[in-house]
Amino acid sequence: MLTDKTIVLGVTGGISAYKVIDLTRELIKRKANVHVVLTPHAKAFVTPLVFESLSKNKVYTDLFELMEGSKIGHVTLADQADLIVVAPATANTLSKIATGIADNLLTAMIMATKVPVLFAPAMNVHMWENIALQRNIKILKEMGYHFVGPSKGELACGAYGSGKLAPIEEIVEKIEDIFTEKDLVGIRILVTAGPTQEMIDPVRMITNRSSGKMGFSLAKIARRRGAEVVLVTGPTREKLPRNDIPIFRVRTAEEMKEEVLRHFPSCDVVIMAAAVSDFRPSNFSQSKIKKNKDEVYILELEKNPDILQVLGERKGDKILVGFAAETENMVENGMEKLRRKNLDLIVINNVLEEGAGFEVDTNKVVIVDRRGKINKLPVMPKDEVARIILDKVRKLVKKRSM
Ligand code: PMT
Repeated sequence: MLTDKTIVLGVTGGISAYKVIDLTRELIKRKANVHVVLTPHAKAFVTPLVFESLSKNKVYTDLFELMEGSKIGHVTLADQADLIVVAPATANTLSKIATGIADNLLTAMIMATKVPVLFAPAMNVHMWENIALQRNIKILKEMGYHFVGPSKGELACGAYGSGKLAPIEEIVEKIEDIFTEKDLVGIRILVTAGPTQEMIDPVRMITNRSSGKMGFSLAKIARRRGAEVVLVTGPTREKLPRNDIPIFRVRTAEEMKEEVLRHFPSCDVVIMAAAVSDFRPSNFSQSKIKKNKDEVYILELEKNPDILQVLGERKGDKILVGFAAETENMVENGMEKLRRKNLDLIVINNVLEEGAGFEVDTNKVVIVDRRGKINKLPVMPKDEVARIILDKVRKLVKKRSM
């Protein structure tokens, strides 16, 4: 997404300027070409050297410094950039830009640019809530500038409230969002993720190794592309780097079924990446089951509802995508599930293969459609698998509406 994109990173004088070193690193990891501009106040918190060593590009700080070939710094940077990110953005810099003041390299460059500008504000909570600043933020939003954060938490000054620099993963997500074509606008997608947990007694349960990563990737990428997304997830440690996706957290298969059926009528597409437990204990013991003298303890299980099969029976003109976690005869077993559950697509992963299935950040899948067309993909990041699934979903939605 960010490969070869030129991102000018403006750092202003706030205590969280040191966190932007990590942001620089993340952007470079994604193969962006990063040019850093420091305001005079930023130099009190971080040095040009650290950004220069990381970005491998000269760091600019002075409005009157000419670039290579006697080019005027602020105009050249403004022209070269695909995106300008200001992090942290202080009240001072935000207010200057809102009122058209261009008294340093960064503010002059922002006045001279035509490319998108993203602000990640960070400051003391009372400064953030200040009426003058809020008025200026409103003006900046009306002018089309993008914002991420600030988030709430304990601030450097010891106060608690809004004013923390947004987490780096949220800033990166917003940057990727700005570069993403919104080709899923108008489509409502319900995604499920994670495992279910079926309690045996207050301390023991039946569950599986699903981390939720695959489902969270699908929800994130779908939203990034403009879809309206609802995420129903079993217990997971995964976090979404954006806060515009409603998340419904459940524990058991029954709870997941209830939540999925509640959202089903208003959705165009359902993608079930959750690893739903096929069985649950027939009886829940209210107290912890004691160890007895017997060598064998027999636990009776009963079947859970098959959520996807229920959706398949009520399908109408909705698009249904299932996943299949297989360990053998992948394609045959996956296709049998596609037919039995009345699906449009099935995404089959061999959970025994390295880099595929549970817990890892990558997956290796075979996607099969209703006509039996098979698409085998190599190991790739789950975000990339999500992108390919969503491309296919988009085509199916388009075909259906023709
Ligand atoms: O969460 P991660 O760590 O990232 O791992 C990703 C994953 C391996 C969990 C994911 O890629 C995956 O394969 N999810 C589906 C796992 C699964 O339950 O497979 P299955 O073959 O048992 O079920 C087939 C389909 O029916 C699935 O879409 C499942 O959500 C659905 N199902 C299954 C059982 C059930 N009772 N109700 C269902 O709706």
